[in-house]
Amino acid sequence: MNKPRLGLTAILILAVSQVFAQGGDPEAGQTKAVTCVACHGQDGNSISAEWPNLAGQHASYLARQLTLYRSGERQNAIMLGMVAALSDQDILDLAAFYAAKEVKPGVADDALIGLGQQIYQGGNAANGVPACMACHGPSGKGNPASGYPALAGQKDRYTATVLAAFKNGAVWGKGDNANAVMAMVAKNLTEEEIEAVSSYIQGLH
Ligand code: HEC
Ligand code: HEC
Repeated sequence: MNKPRLGLTAILILAVSQVFAQGGDPEAGQTKAVTCVACHGQDGNSISAEWPNLAGQHASYLARQLTLYRSGERQNAIMLGMVAALSDQDILDLAAFYAAKEVKPGVADDALIGLGQQIYQGGNAANGVPACMACHGPSGKGNPASGYPALAGQKDRYTATVLAAFKNGAVWGKGDNANAVMAMVAKNLTEEEIEAVSSYIQGLH
């Protein structure tokens, strides 16, 4: 007689813990995103190649970046102004909202696609550049459990800008929160390779 009840309790506990694990409310996030749409678009597909798409990005990655802008651990004058007044719950809600949207991939430049694909899928062993695919996945979906962001369809100018910053040693986060992986990955990328792989990523889906 007790068995079905136990089963129901277990399901309820599971459902409740998943809501907590997720943390953000996408509907609340939509309301809070009114100040973001001017640059990141109504649906998280940005309206300029300089501004990143947020659509379809992992909620955990988005929340990490918003927190890093707020603390100044990821430095950007525009984004610092945007996040200064956000609470932790605002950040979770915004992250849940954008994560639930779908990214609209762009197109890669035909002249760059060969080199871009070679770097993305195989790296450049001669220069010690690892394959991007190893962490970001063959179709650019990334891996939220490991903190590897999705790259598929990302705007090429934005990607080239962050790769140039990583090449110059930029590390997002400080202390235990620092993630120095990309500074290591990008330090030996040439400018030509940065252009090519950024274009390839824009067309990746
Ligand atoms: C005036 C234009 C503008 C507005 C408005 C704006 N952003 Fe941004 N956003 C940017 C730019 C530019 C970057 C890239 C900054 C950099 O290079 O670090 C960025 C980066 C981001 C990133 C990091 C993306 C990544 O892939 O790492 C997130 C997350 C983000 N913005 C969320 C928001 C949210 C949420 C809002 C509204 C509260 C917002 N932005 C408002 C311009 C804007
Ligand atoms: C060993 C794993 C690993 C490899 C290999 C790797 N990445 Fe990354 N990448 C990461 C991690 C982790 C982050 C997020 C860093 C953070 O959150 O501080 C990241 C972030 C990025 C970002 C920023 C995304 C955004 O939305 O702002 C870009 C762009 C990027 N990687 C491109 C590349 C390219 C291009 C290559 C291949 C040349 C590559 N990565 C290889 C782990 C990796």
